[in-house]
Amino acid sequence: MYDLIHDISVRPEPFSRYTAKELWTRPFLSRQMLEFHLNQETDLASRRIEEIDNAVRWIDGQLDLLGKSLCDLGCGPGLYTQRFAALGAKVTGIDFSSYALDYARDHSDQSISYIHADYLADTLPSGFDVITLIYTDLCVLSPNQRVKLLGRMQEMLNPEGHIVIDVAGTGLLKSRQEVTFIEDRLMGGFWAAGHYVGIQKSFIYEEQRLALDRYIIVEASETWQIYNWFQHYTPQMIEAELLKAGFTVTSIVGDLTGAPLTADGDLIGVIACTM
Ligand SMILES: C[S@@+](CC[C@H](N)C(=O)[O-])C[C@H]1O[C@@H](n2cnc3c(N)ncnc32)[C@H](O)[C@@H]1O
Repeated sequence: MYDLIHDISVRPEPFSRYTAKELWTRPFLSRQMLEFHLNQETDLASRRIEEIDNAVRWIDGQLDLLGKSLCDLGCGPGLYTQRFAALGAKVTGIDFSSYALDYARDHSDQSISYIHADYLADTLPSGFDVITLIYTDLCVLSPNQRVKLLGRMQEMLNPEGHIVIDVAGTGLLKSRQEVTFIEDRLMGGFWAAGHYVGIQKSFIYEEQRLALDRYIIVEASETWQIYNWFQHYTPQMIEAELLKAGFTVTSIVGDLTGAPLTADGDLIGVIACTM
């Protein structure tokens, strides 16, 4: 007991654990996440449909998707893939949640190819003109994982291919606080079907512009944890990171609907090209 409570009380080393797979693929959670993806009342897992439509329209205006070969990494239930395909792109969606992919397959055009894979670890297809990674998914990765993923994207792209990503801006970090909650059925039963106690410890690492929401879920049968790291970027930081990975930024905006970029905004949308 001492060891567990002590461990919970201590600030973890940045990116000391990666639990995204558990968050998205634990059976109860993947069902919850699908509901949140589709729920128009919340932006927890995906943005609302109107925003997705606006983003797809903006991306198409920038890259002219007709006839392009496009891969959506972390495609979830296919909210973007369906729309990219409707604009005439040849679309592949990749995700490690089979629950989300089943939904995507059931609700998509047959022409879309869905692949169940971990984009950090599994063999990935290549020959794409465009790769999308949408909903700040780069931000949950450690610096080493980001280098790895951006390198993999380079290998997946055709010459002069483009990536489309969005990342959290520093404005979002300002709205965060360090908190500790211990609650019966924390977040209204989000984490498990039956009885549990949820502990949330949130940390801010100012110097690294990093935040962590750590959740410890104590059920009668087991205790398990989720670490949600979240890297926040200035426009200069994301440009430098992409340049180091061999990309040239061609558009940098306030979000993927093309909103104007502000120095301290909540979001940054980026299109970058292989050099
Ligand atoms: C925040 S959701 C965004 C989904 C989609 N891009 C959207 O905006 O509707 C993140 C998605 O990425 C998937 N994912 C996260 N890490 C992954 C990884 N390493 N490999 C494959 N899929 C991953 C999750 O299963 C989840 O469906």
